[in-house]
Amino acid sequence: MAMNALALSDDIARHFGRARDSYQQAARLQRVVAEKALSLLPATAGLLVDLGSGPGWFHPRLRQHCTDLVALDLSFDMLEKTSAAQQVSLAVQADAQSLPLASETTDRVFSSLMLQWCEKPELVLQEAHRVLKPGGLAVISTLLDGTLQEFKQAWAQVDQHQHINQFLPLNFYQQLAQDLPELGLRLQTELVKLDYPDVLALARELKDLGANTVTQGRNKALTGKQRWQKVQQAYPTHCSYGQIHASYQVLYLTLTKQNRD
Ligand SMILES: C[S@@+](CC[C@H](N)C(=O)[O-])C[C@H]1O[C@@H](n2cnc3c(N)ncnc32)[C@H](O)[C@@H]1O
Repeated sequence: MAMNALALSDDIARHFGRARDSYQQAARLQRVVAEKALSLLPATAGLLVDLGSGPGWFHPRLRQHCTDLVALDLSFDMLEKTSAAQQVSLAVQADAQSLPLASETTDRVFSSLMLQWCEKPELVLQEAHRVLKPGGLAVISTLLDGTLQEFKQAWAQVDQHQHINQFLPLNFYQQLAQDLPELGLRLQTELVKLDYPDVLALARELKDLGANTVTQGRNKALTGKQRWQKVQQAYPTHCSYGQIHASYQVLYLTLTKQNRD
């Protein structure tokens, strides 16, 4: 991994680590997406690995889906929180783009809302495929371009900095599915809209989730009250009852490892 990729991984791990105690309260989108992703993954009397497991708030649900559960995350702080809840047999600090797991040892791979933080998401998919046993399945959810587009549009009217992470377009994954047919990828999209009292509440939720790391062209300048007011005024969709809503374009990837004949 290049030096700046390593620094970015540290930054992501640090941000998420700081959010380990505020995360669960703020994780509204995460709840909706994790439940849907789990509904696409058949249960197993075997091993399930959760990539980018976060603080492990979803592990009681995942435990009902398998016999053995392994949590894997970049952030040591998140894994500490996970271990304290005693739902997992093992907590592994690692990068999901390079799994420290032997090939063909896992029955299921689950990953919810981690992939968008990876520089090379295709490596995660290839690694998930490598560690799955023949006949094994993975479900991985991520965010696509179009996510937080209202917030992005509002900021664009206030300054030229990038305030929202960039998300890959759907056709990136469609192309991967074509280029890597051995992964047996299937794609399903969903638009989720959440309401917020105002833009500050939206920004606070992203911060509480540790999701406020911007991966390119960061602006470290302070964001004052007046600028927030301008963002609020420029925000394109105001609900009739005074709230704003934010759009999240969610992709669910199902990956199947073929049985050997
Ligand atoms: C938005 S949280 C999702 C947590 C949980 N899966 C959920 O649905 O609430 C993303 C998590 O992925 C972890 N993460 C980000 N990049 C990662 C990588 N390359 N490898 C492993 N974990 C990563 C972060 O540390 C964080 O805990």
